[in-house]
Amino acid sequence: MASIEKAPNKGRRMLLLAGTGAVGAVGAGFVAWPFYASWKPSAKARVIGAPVEAYIGDLEPGQLMRLQWRGQTIGIMRRSEQMVENLSEINDQLRDPMSSENPDQQPDYAQNLYRSIRPEILVLNMHCTHLGCVPEFIPEVGAQPFEENWKGGFFCPCHKSKFDLAGRVYQGVPAPTNLVVPPYSFVDAENVIIGVEPEGAA
Ligand code: FES
Repeated sequence: MASIEKAPNKGRRMLLLAGTGAVGAVGAGFVAWPFYASWKPSAKARVIGAPVEAYIGDLEPGQLMRLQWRGQTIGIMRRSEQMVENLSEINDQLRDPMSSENPDQQPDYAQNLYRSIRPEILVLNMHCTHLGCVPEFIPEVGAQPFEENWKGGFFCPCHKSKFDLAGRVYQGVPAPTNLVVPPYSFVDAENVIIGVEPEGAA
């Protein structure tokens, strides 16, 4: 379990949001945080959509990193203990809090409150389930212009869909379902591979 850490400060948020904007601006290009420069999928792997491995050892609580897999922007986030605890507080505001109405939005091994294998690590297809935009990452807890009781999550400004820090969609927004969790597994404690199921998974 990751240690508790304060929500990112404003400077960090600007960095994160800047990254979000960069993804939107360049479309399918590969974008990652500077500390993640060691991740180098081969050009061939990117073309054929082969599994991609990501080092998450430097990912701090509250941080999100992005990579490309099969033409989609994939986000990997490390949630703090507080963020994990907060997930159960807004179930009554969500359309499908336990992902039971749309079980195809995540593999069986991620169909739980956290929508993940390890509660602190979230792996998510970042594309909004409305029209496919990549939402902004807004991890701070506190009132936002679009949500008074914000517990952190993802906000799609074009049509105002909202998702929590498990990618679960709020009620009353255009997006019809939770964000998709792609197939993934852990190579070890610090490496995740997107596109490979855990051993023994159906
Ligand atoms: S694409 Fe996200 S709300 Fe429309």
